[in-house]
Amino acid sequence: MLPIGRRSWGGVMARLDVERVSKHFGGVYALRDVSLHCESGEIVGLIGPNGAGKTTLLNVVSAALPVDQGSVTLDGKRLDGTGPRNCALMGIGRTFQNIRLFGRLTVRQNIDVAYSTALAHRRARLKDTTVDGLLEFMSLSAAQHRRARELPYGQQRRLEIARALALAPDFLLLDEPAAGMNEAESERLIGSIRAVRDRSGCGIIVIDHDLRFIMTVCERIHVMHMGELIAHGPPEIVQKDPRVIEVYIGGRGRAKDRTRKEASNAEALAAH
Ligand SMILES: Nc1ncnc2c1ncn2[C@@H]1O[C@H](COP(=O)(O)OP(=O)(O)O)[C@@H](O)[C@H]1O
Ligand SMILES: [Mg+2]
Repeated sequence: MLPIGRRSWGGVMARLDVERVSKHFGGVYALRDVSLHCESGEIVGLIGPNGAGKTTLLNVVSAALPVDQGSVTLDGKRLDGTGPRNCALMGIGRTFQNIRLFGRLTVRQNIDVAYSTALAHRRARLKDTTVDGLLEFMSLSAAQHRRARELPYGQQRRLEIARALALAPDFLLLDEPAAGMNEAESERLIGSIRAVRDRSGCGIIVIDHDLRFIMTVCERIHVMHMGELIAHGPPEIVQKDPRVIEVYIGGRGRAKDRTRKEASNAEALAAH
């Protein structure tokens, strides 16, 4: 199989640094003094309850939002303040919590839009990456002429990833890619995320609520709560951290009061 993205042009290690970033909306601190690092080839997880600040962190890293304090750099170059388009062309690919595809365009056209932009600005980085290769890689070849909005949910999520990869990113940010997927789709997604890392060599930051999913796919995990990072480390360490257990199952200790997702998370924490 041909390499895609940064591996296809022989890119060396890249490094993404979020340094002491704060961001507030009115009186709410969505991020408070948050630092996080990711290198090429790493899959880093970002978890935390609703409202913890996870999406805001991805918005700041992809320059969709300005920071109040701190900095975001890619190999030392400032990303914050560049704006989403420039940031994407500098090497940050992303997907969205609420899928944002061009619904009336076909699967192929959705990828083409990003690919043509990348050809114009990052041609050297697309050496062996083609639209056909991306379609095949994300198992979308058979669906390439269907309108994006007609695809089943799991395929729409995969199309978002294919489109992000069309920019040959150094880093890929995935905001709840498994949300709404059934178990089989989510298993398949785990395989795809690992394959993206192996074939493209990019670094991946992935957000999810589902601890089982995150602990299976990530080598390192950051845990957020109320805008702050409260724990960091490999899955087997993080899942034993008392603060993480408190945030995920504290206050809802009685099994009968838990939602299905909370119960599944509690089981994942208890598993080790
Ligand atoms: N554009 C915005 N305007 C005002 N408040 C926001 C905005 N985006 C996020 N917030 C607030 O920031 C906090 C963190 O939100 P978010 O990053 O979406 O959390 P998560 O993705 O972890 O669920 C929440 O309190 C949310 O209401
Ligand atoms: Mg979110």
